[in-house]
Amino acid sequence: MALFAPKRRPHHGPMHREDFAKLPRHVAIIMDGNGRWAKKHKLAVAMGHRQGVEALREIIRHTDDLGIEALSLYAFSTENWNRSAEEVAALMALILEFFASEIDELDAKNVRILILGEKSRLPDKQREALVRAEERTGKNTGLRLNIAINYGGRAELVRAARELALLAQSGSLDPARITERTVADHLYTRGQPDVDLLIRTSGEMRLSNFLLYQCAYAEFVFPPVLWPDFTVRDYDQALQVFGGRQRRFGGRT
Ligand code: FPP
Repeated sequence: MALFAPKRRPHHGPMHREDFAKLPRHVAIIMDGNGRWAKKHKLAVAMGHRQGVEALREIIRHTDDLGIEALSLYAFSTENWNRSAEEVAALMALILEFFASEIDELDAKNVRILILGEKSRLPDKQREALVRAEERTGKNTGLRLNIAINYGGRAELVRAARELALLAQSGSLDPARITERTVADHLYTRGQPDVDLLIRTSGEMRLSNFLLYQCAYAEFVFPPVLWPDFTVRDYDQALQVFGGRQRRFGGRT
């Protein structure tokens, strides 16, 4: 017996909120496979990332259209600095371009942008653009768009530990009163729901240090397509798979 029969839209167009029995509140995406896509098309790796940004625009739009509360994207990990200078420069250039071209539309759609990660190591221009985007959209009340740049999940936890230790040292926090919630309140994503659905494209099945604490009870979906080929239809499919999963959060049902 099928546990879940997805409602199909007749023309395979993008699905709407009411087509889903259940939608995640918070989706996280590891956009993997840009390099392999470029190789497959005999293009420079930078072109893979560029095509990846095209896919990203559509996915952000659709997330907003569906009324999902939060979307977290892994754009640049702390380990990505180990790539060639050329590739790092290409990614940095794309980040700037992305904000220059998208910020008006995102702001008009009431999207609130938050950068997850340590901005201090970024080049000045990028850092300034990111801070501007956060400030400009900081009071918006729509989709929470979290973009992880120079982000690592363990580094995020270390940072939280330091903040809490300082508060304890100064006497304003009693260590005995630290709860899971207290820790969550010291992560970049404070105030946002936990990740419900994590999508990683390209068939790789790893978390790669992304949102470690927030993904504790996340459902994982691994579409086999390379990120630049990931379409709204693939996304709808992943969301349908999520809708069919039974989440028990450690309990029994
Ligand atoms: C993984 O593919 C992807 C990345 C390391 C970068 C993802 C970045 C973007 C899609 C563009 C920049 C983002 C914004 C917000 C402007 P890979 O290169 O590891 O692929 P491979 O495993 O096939 O080599």
